[in-house]
Amino acid sequence: VSNPGGDALHCLDDIERAAFAVLPPEVRDFFAGGSGGESTVAANRAAFDSVYVIPRVLRDVSAGTTTSALLGRPVSMPIATAPIAFQKLLHEDGELAVARAAKVAGIPYTVSTMSSVRLEEISAIGGSTWFQLYWMREPKRSLELVRRAEAAGCTAILLTVDLPWMGRRLRDVRNQFALPEHVVPANLDHGNGTAAHNTGSGGSAVATHAGQAISAALTWSDVDTLRSASRLPLVLKGILAPEDAERAVDHGVDAIVVSNHGGRQLDGAVPSIAVLEAICQAVGGRCEILLDSGVRSGVDVLKALALGASGVLLGRPLMWGLAVDGEDGVRRVLDLLAADLRDALGLAGCASVAEARELRTFTSTF
Ligand SMILES: Cc1cc2nc3c(=O)[nH]c(=O)nc-3n(C[C@H](O)[C@H](O)[C@H](O)COP(=O)(O)O)c2cc1C
Repeated sequence: VSNPGGDALHCLDDIERAAFAVLPPEVRDFFAGGSGGESTVAANRAAFDSVYVIPRVLRDVSAGTTTSALLGRPVSMPIATAPIAFQKLLHEDGELAVARAAKVAGIPYTVSTMSSVRLEEISAIGGSTWFQLYWMREPKRSLELVRRAEAAGCTAILLTVDLPWMGRRLRDVRNQFALPEHVVPANLDHGNGTAAHNTGSGGSAVATHAGQAISAALTWSDVDTLRSASRLPLVLKGILAPEDAERAVDHGVDAIVVSNHGGRQLDGAVPSIAVLEAICQAVGGRCEILLDSGVRSGVDVLKALALGASGVLLGRPLMWGLAVDGEDGVRRVLDLLAADLRDALGLAGCASVAEARELRTFTSTF
């Protein structure tokens, strides 16, 4: 895979640049953008860059491995794909290309409620499939989605808790962003997202559609409903306060994702990597802790592990791979990240993910 300028692609940022060179501006903006002034988008990177790892030495790393487990199942590396809506905007194969690449790489693929391919088709690929749930305005619709995910063989439910409605993504508002006809919210039968295609809305049609479909009334009692409605591992995605993490444990969740939604919800929300350690301390091992928002390299994964996470979700970089070269582009992203993580682990003196979780860190103010 090489970019149109002929330069080779050696890191995830190279692939981002290559994608930006080929994508229509409004599609690039939908995937790259954040809410408001995008201060949290920028802070996600600044916060990762302010964390330093204190490496260990004189430990045999000759047979090091990135293998680990997430939600009780083996993975080739402590990474799953983040749920991302409407992947057909980037490539005709959309979610199928990303899920196939995730399967080849040996990591779970997370289907979004707003996927542009039906969840049944994605899980039929046969990799490990997680389902991300947006709580619908009609609760019975949420439970219908859960039933479908269970019937299709999904192995976890991630309930997203940071989106009562979509944050104001000014790029989409300015572009009056709407879905093209061939991209639909495929899991939602009712009307197939007519509002999302409305180019004359004067703002973001995707935000209008999300507002019509998703409930802003979600509370802990719905978490209880969901907990008792399904035996699948339950994960809350979008926790940033240690108090909410503790509360999640009290409500019996199996894991949380420390996340600010990639800077797309509250602009000015704290970077997830900056609160990770405090959350791990508050939780004290009572549930699994994953992190996303800003992961761009193997060293970023190492930092999250060192601060106490058991793994990360990878978001936008997969989309840049998809845009550049479909399934092969996504495979390139995951191959680069796997090699990068092997390198980071070994150079930090760690032969395993478990050893990485024992590393100390130093954080400068950012
Ligand atoms: C274009 C786009 C669409 C997304 N769609 C969803 C979604 O449908 N459900 C969800 O829970 N999170 C969604 N997210 C958030 C991601 O799951 C994840 O939290 C975020 O991408 C992490 O930030 P990063 O990609 O900058 O690392 C989306 C993110 C992007 C960029």
